[in-house]
Amino acid sequence: MSTLRETGVWKALHSHYLSFQRIQLRGLFARDKKRAERYTVEAAGWRLDYSKHRINDKTLKLLFELARECSLESRRDAMFSGKEVNTTEQRAALHIALRAPADSVINVAGVNVVPEVQAILKRMAECAELIRAGEWKGYSGRPIRNIVNIGIGGSDLGPVMACGALCHYGERKLRLRFVSNVDGTDFVEAVHGLRPDETLFIIASKTFTTLETMTNAHTARHWLQTAAGRDRKAITPHFVALSTNEKAVNDFGIPSKQMFGFQEWVGGRYSMDSAIGLSIMIAIGPEAFCEMLAGFHAMDEHFRSAPLEQNLPVIMGLLNVWYADFFDAGTVAVLPYAHSLKRFPAYLQQLTMESNGKHVTLDGKSVDYHTGSVFWGEPGTNGQHSFYQLIHQGTHLIPCDFIAFAESLNPVGRHQDLLFANVIAQAEALAMGKTLTEVQKEGVSAELAPHKVMKGNQPSSLLFAKRLTPTSLGALVALYEHSVFTQATIWDINPFDQWGVELGKRLASRIAEEIETPDVTLAHDASTNASIRWYCYMRGQ
Ligand code: F6P
Repeated sequence: MSTLRETGVWKALHSHYLSFQRIQLRGLFARDKKRAERYTVEAAGWRLDYSKHRINDKTLKLLFELARECSLESRRDAMFSGKEVNTTEQRAALHIALRAPADSVINVAGVNVVPEVQAILKRMAECAELIRAGEWKGYSGRPIRNIVNIGIGGSDLGPVMACGALCHYGERKLRLRFVSNVDGTDFVEAVHGLRPDETLFIIASKTFTTLETMTNAHTARHWLQTAAGRDRKAITPHFVALSTNEKAVNDFGIPSKQMFGFQEWVGGRYSMDSAIGLSIMIAIGPEAFCEMLAGFHAMDEHFRSAPLEQNLPVIMGLLNVWYADFFDAGTVAVLPYAHSLKRFPAYLQQLTMESNGKHVTLDGKSVDYHTGSVFWGEPGTNGQHSFYQLIHQGTHLIPCDFIAFAESLNPVGRHQDLLFANVIAQAEALAMGKTLTEVQKEGVSAELAPHKVMKGNQPSSLLFAKRLTPTSLGALVALYEHSVFTQATIWDINPFDQWGVELGKRLASRIAEEIETPDVTLAHDASTNASIRWYCYMRGQ
């Protein structure tokens, strides 16, 4: 069993929590006029106001003490210096090298990895420029206009999220689509209306073995071959691969010159600024892509060098630990008030939950505390008209991350002022609520009054930046990456592996074979056997 709960600081946090339970945000603000000022930090273009959290100076002091007790600084330094921090896969986790300036030196096993990263970026830029200039031609000689990224998990979510977030900066004459699901509908809908001779498929898969991606890649090849006729070579210009597995890429029929590699130390969910980001680079251009990398790097540097007390990712990570482990809050709502960030919560789900959904410590001991929270959300203001009611008046404590920008990318009428007014209003309403006395003062009847009371005291972070740009997006993603790392360090878990996904993958392959093999003997549990038999019966097998 892990010994985290036995530490003095954990015990101190627990007693502090017990004495803090009844404290209201209203009271904290009333007693301290400088609270907002004191609990606001800025870095890499982002301003974090964390004053609407259920904390005081003592909470923070204890949380920073916890971070030091858990060696956050030395673990962070180990990650930045290319040490093998992904212990179960014996690898470094060096996504920070993907956005390091070209003259940096970051050694892995005595070799500086930065020149290789830069060389890949250069090749990606050449490919992106050719496509953007209409000089990458399909089998009929027509320029490529449609880009279809086939990938799943980290080979999909980062590109989908970033291409959506940065569509304002995108090349509009190119059509960008994404296929991830093994459900054939995803592929069929993605290529609907596309001319095969104008379509480039980007097969994005670190391993180049993932069932969903390879099934979709084969379907794409068949779709093109059907249109192009028999000559297999004709469709070669219609595929590029983003992978670490050159042999599998070549076996599929994609030549090495159309492959963009990356390194084993790039985890899937940390890979959007590696070759996996090619679709983003094609969409926004190499220059804007580099601005995005610069945003990542600015937040990396802040995380690496700012004192813990002034460190945005550290503060956010510690607050998550505070709620997950002491308040038993199982979830965090991520609420971007920028419609182009609509896939950001989905992106964060993989980043946070695949990273921190772990039940044993680095040395394999069971944990007796909560680890990763459930991250979920929708863009504001849409969410206000669906699930916010539960946050306002339900029974769960749900910390919220509000994300918003001062400037609109599309200034029309009053839209931006209304959008921003809503984000501020929601955070205020959640924190301050409405008391029975206030409701009664409005002349509400005694029967109705309890229904109109809002208990308030719901914590939130306000994360604001001037404008959604490639740079601010990069910094935002890096902020969450390092917040995830901070939490993992406190929990003493490995945020860089994902063994839990393996069992389901293996079972799916076995069941697919059983479904396709007549009269096979089934040896699963009774429910699983019955589901397989039902499916075969329905399919007339
Ligand atoms: O879901 C498990 C996972 O391994 C993710 O971590 C990864 O991002 C995804 O599958 C896709 O893997 P690949 O890029 O190898 O196809």
